[in-house]
Amino acid sequence: MDESAWGYAVATYAADGVPLSFYFAEPRLGSPDADDAAPAVPPEHQDPVRGVRIRSQVLVTADLDLPPVDSADAYLRLHLLSHRLVRPNTVNLDGIFKVLPNVGWTSLGPVAVSEIGAARVRLGAHLADGTTVMHEGFVNFNAGTLGPSMVEGRISQGVVVGAGADVGGGASIMGTLSGGGTQVISVGERCLLGANSGLGISLGDDCIVEAGLYLTAGTIVTLPDGQRAKARELSGRAGLLFRRNSVTGSVEAITRPGRWGSLSTDLHAGQ
Ligand SMILES: CC(C)(COP(=O)(O)OP(=O)(O)OC[C@H]1O[C@@H](n2cnc3c(N)ncnc32)[C@H](O)[C@@H]1OP(=O)(O)O)[C@@H](O)C(=O)NCCC(=O)NCCS
Repeated sequence: MDESAWGYAVATYAADGVPLSFYFAEPRLGSPDADDAAPAVPPEHQDPVRGVRIRSQVLVTADLDLPPVDSADAYLRLHLLSHRLVRPNTVNLDGIFKVLPNVGWTSLGPVAVSEIGAARVRLGAHLADGTTVMHEGFVNFNAGTLGPSMVEGRISQGVVVGAGADVGGGASIMGTLSGGGTQVISVGERCLLGANSGLGISLGDDCIVEAGLYLTAGTIVTLPDGQRAKARELSGRAGLLFRRNSVTGSVEAITRPGRWGSLSTDLHAGQ
């Protein structure tokens, strides 16, 4: 693809000048030409409620073959995708997380994360430096992470998650507040809870729970030697991969060190 793009953005800046977002009503492919007369630029204005300043008609251009150079460029590429001007995987998005700031999205518009308490991260949540909580992530009080981690699922009350762990999209870690659960669960370092998995026991370091597998404390698990055990008896053991055998239907624990690729260095760098 040998493509460039451009557009006029409504740009929102935090009080310290950091750009928070760029909104393009009409992103375009190609380059602006003489017929694309620059629109009148209205004066910059402030939104004291959000603590931001807003500028309109900010001209942004992008070379889509190269990685995005800054947040304006990155937002332009995201708008091109949402406007279906380009197809997924046809635009260079390398390193996009490095140039996109973390932003609190409110009904009033973008806000610097330092200005808000995220609704899905409750007061009393313990979030270690380098923790990323995605949209569907949730962290209750008296629960949280102990090091850089990715949270796309739910960390219930009392649960602690070790450094380097990834709580995948929609994953659920059982808490003790309701439903009779009594085990206070911890997740070891470098564990991966697959998307839509569930966990009712503690995991030692370097464990994996297969996407979609709900492992409760009473789940009967087949061990590598063919023996069976309740999952709670394996609580806290390191280096296990839990999966539901798609042929037999039984839940298995496999002793195989995790090789799921670890956290994205871009997402967690310098946080
Ligand atoms: C469980 C999981 C980690 C296994 O992935 P993997 O280590 O890459 O393993 P593979 O898929 O390469 O499978 C290895 C072998 O086990 C087999 N296998 C995998 N899952 C199996 C299952 N549920 N039942 C039976 N066999 C299975 C494969 O067929 C393959 O067999 P082979 O060696 O004969 O070819 C993966 O399926 C998974 O669930 N990952 C979670 C990812 C995720 O959700 N991330 C969060 C995103 S938000």
